[in-house]
Amino acid sequence: MTTFHFPKGFLWGTATAAHQVEGNNTNNQWWKWEQEGHTNGKSGLACDWWGGRWREDFDRAAEGGQNAHRLSVEWSRIQPAPDRWDEDALERYRVMLRGLKERGLTPMVTLHHFTEPLWVSENSGWETEAIVPLFEKFVRKTVDALKEYCSLWCTVNEPNVYALSGYANGAFPPGVNNIQRAVQVEANMLRAHAAAYRAIHQIQPEARVGYALHYRPMVAKRNWNPLDRLMRSVRYSGINMAFPSGISTGVLKSPVGNVSIPEAKGTQDYLGINYYSQDTISFNPFKPKELFTHSGFPADADFSENNFIANIPEGFFDTLKWAVRTYPNLPILVTENGVEDSTDHLRPRFMAEHIHQMWRGVNFNWPIKGYFHWSLVDNFEWERGWTQRFGLWALDTESQKRTKRPSADLYAAICHENGLSSEMAQKYCPEVFEKLFPS
Ligand code: BGC
Repeated sequence: MTTFHFPKGFLWGTATAAHQVEGNNTNNQWWKWEQEGHTNGKSGLACDWWGGRWREDFDRAAEGGQNAHRLSVEWSRIQPAPDRWDEDALERYRVMLRGLKERGLTPMVTLHHFTEPLWVSENSGWETEAIVPLFEKFVRKTVDALKEYCSLWCTVNEPNVYALSGYANGAFPPGVNNIQRAVQVEANMLRAHAAAYRAIHQIQPEARVGYALHYRPMVAKRNWNPLDRLMRSVRYSGINMAFPSGISTGVLKSPVGNVSIPEAKGTQDYLGINYYSQDTISFNPFKPKELFTHSGFPADADFSENNFIANIPEGFFDTLKWAVRTYPNLPILVTENGVEDSTDHLRPRFMAEHIHQMWRGVNFNWPIKGYFHWSLVDNFEWERGWTQRFGLWALDTESQKRTKRPSADLYAAICHENGLSSEMAQKYCPEVFEKLFPS
């Protein structure tokens, strides 16, 4: 019987994003995309946070022992038109952030989480450099308004996912299939991130500023096959390395060309990592749009409900190891980790196994400072709509009723203890007890 403890002051929270929880975000490109029928259901009222239900959900987080929360602000609410700021919207975010503080939760605010106002997306969005001063202006206004309550900022969430889903595989708006354009978009996101990094430090010198990287460890399906190995490295560099290389060297590297962005060098105070799963990559001659690569999971993997995620906790350890090797001494925040699972049969072991891997990293003195589980309550899952349920709490979208899943209790136990104990594993996920606590 033992407990895997975490360092004092470790941040335990959940992560959310404005469009996924607020409801009625009618003035951004995702709402339009939903009305055009591209998604599996519509965001609608979502979790009704804009209607005030954040209060009850923040209560749930606080009662569950969490001491931090990552949320995002909605650009289209704050700046509904190029020449108009909505001071009421900013005030509402101030009230929300105060609400977090009053409950003992440290706020982390993301400034761009996949959505932007229609006036931005309808004017070439992130495809031209014109976006950079626009984003900086929005960031300045927002940070100035919220700085009393927040000093931990995430400029952009998963720029790689935004660029690739919107411009390479086309699942996100604007539904384009063009890798060159995807790289342009990611490059502009890096320029905007760098501008935001400097602007935030100017306004709030003590701020800690970074972004959230969606990192996918990858293995070649047939390691003996040079084509699989080549495809693995093409995909790995394209998906994982563009932003990090830009921040390390000032050159955003991609399989279809490099972009020099010298002002990006060194613009992060921590590394935000979103980890969900590890990919198995092979060569596929029928996928020219994906540069002839195919990504899958091992057939015998521990799959999530819709096979969207394979439970591969060792990949999380490798991710953290990559982070420390790439940026020695830079604090690491796990800005997202979680799994879709409406019945909660997989989530308890997924959570315990991932937190165990993170604890292994902590034991090497890797500077891991916090963990944000995705997510607090079921919320709108982008193109997958309501078919995937990531919440510690289930949401009935009709009645807005929340129902606690067992993993909410497991997470509460972990947060309260600042560690994972053998009793917790025995109680919530006995099937992995022996793996986590070998006798
Ligand atoms: C995104 C979240 C999303 C989660 C689960 C991440 O890529 O940042 O917005 O809900 O994955 O799909």
